[in-house]
Amino acid sequence: MSDFLVTGTSGFIGSRVSEILLQEGHLVIGIDNLNNSYDNRLKKWRLKQLKEFSNFIYEEIDIYDHKILDKFVSKTKRSFEAIINLAAHAGVRKSVENPRIYYETNVLGTLNLLELCKKFEIGKFVLASSSSIYGESDIIPFSEENDTDIFLSPYAASKKSAEDLCKTYNYLFGTDISILRFFTVYGPAGRPDMSIFRFIKWIIEGDPIQIYGDGQQKRDFTFVDDIAKGTINSLRRVGLETFNLGSDNPIKLLDVISIIEQETGMKANLEFKDKFESDVFATWANIKKAKEILNWVPKTSFMDGIKKVVAWHLENKEFVRQIKI
Ligand SMILES: NC(=O)c1ccc[n+]([C@@H]2O[C@H](COP(=O)([O-])OP(=O)(O)OC[C@H]3O[C@@H](n4cnc5c(N)ncnc54)[C@H](O)[C@@H]3O)[C@@H](O)[C@H]2O)c1
Repeated sequence: MSDFLVTGTSGFIGSRVSEILLQEGHLVIGIDNLNNSYDNRLKKWRLKQLKEFSNFIYEEIDIYDHKILDKFVSKTKRSFEAIINLAAHAGVRKSVENPRIYYETNVLGTLNLLELCKKFEIGKFVLASSSSIYGESDIIPFSEENDTDIFLSPYAASKKSAEDLCKTYNYLFGTDISILRFFTVYGPAGRPDMSIFRFIKWIIEGDPIQIYGDGQQKRDFTFVDDIAKGTINSLRRVGLETFNLGSDNPIKLLDVISIIEQETGMKANLEFKDKFESDVFATWANIKKAKEILNWVPKTSFMDGIKKVVAWHLENKEFVRQIKI
């Protein structure tokens, strides 16, 4: 059994990755700053589930604050197997309004964690990157070799910078690094700033569904358990590699809504808004590399995934009603 430092442990993906590691019997030290990037009652809800595990230790820390981070890791006296960096300011649209906090966490935060790897001789680092760095790439499905020099948002640019820092630390200090480019993740207790959480909440509560653009845009929706398992598979030693983790099955937003209508038995009332400039038309992952090197394939079909999310929303109806979006 190993010790892991997981950042963004109260986040959507971080909580699931932490949970699986805890179920496997590892010790997880989870850190998060519980910021208000979205209604943080949801972050506290996830954290409460993790605190049920006796092998979980939580500390509220901002990864931007390198002095506190350093002091904390030194105080734990642990020999970490890996740092899994899932803390970030995520989301394309908000990054246009407030780019600075994206850079503080996504770039300088990543730098601070890479420094920890160097100082405390932590041999493995995993970085959560994003499909958004492909922009409107015309080579589809997107493969890891595609050009990533077209940035449509400060969020995408910050992820690209974090990837570059990883390459530098691998080159200079030999840190073994897996860079994971996640494609639109959805699942129970998901992010309320993302489409699937909002669509289900709006449909169940009888509110109009707001769609940016005409709803024809496609996303390679990937179930959170698959993403979490891919993240854990990427803990193996690879040197320095970048992997797409996606479902290889893009779905149109309007079709997503029909599937949710079918699952809830309720009718959606659509309200179309202007397309957002930084939103890409489609995402689609080529996942050959993750299959070959990480022995990873996404296992959850979109229908099964949506069933699980709708069930979670119905089980937690009163709680979800209070969540601000
Ligand atoms: N969800 C997706 O579809 C998706 C897609 C591509 C990439 N990603 C990436 O995956 C990672 C996890 O995303 P998520 O969907 O779980 O997002 P999330 O916002 O739910 O989780 C991120 C967590 O990090 C914490 N955090 C943010 N800044 C911090 C800081 N400075 N110090 C400590 N904690 C901090 C937040 O409070 C939050 O709990 C992020 O790097 C994100 O960019 C997510």
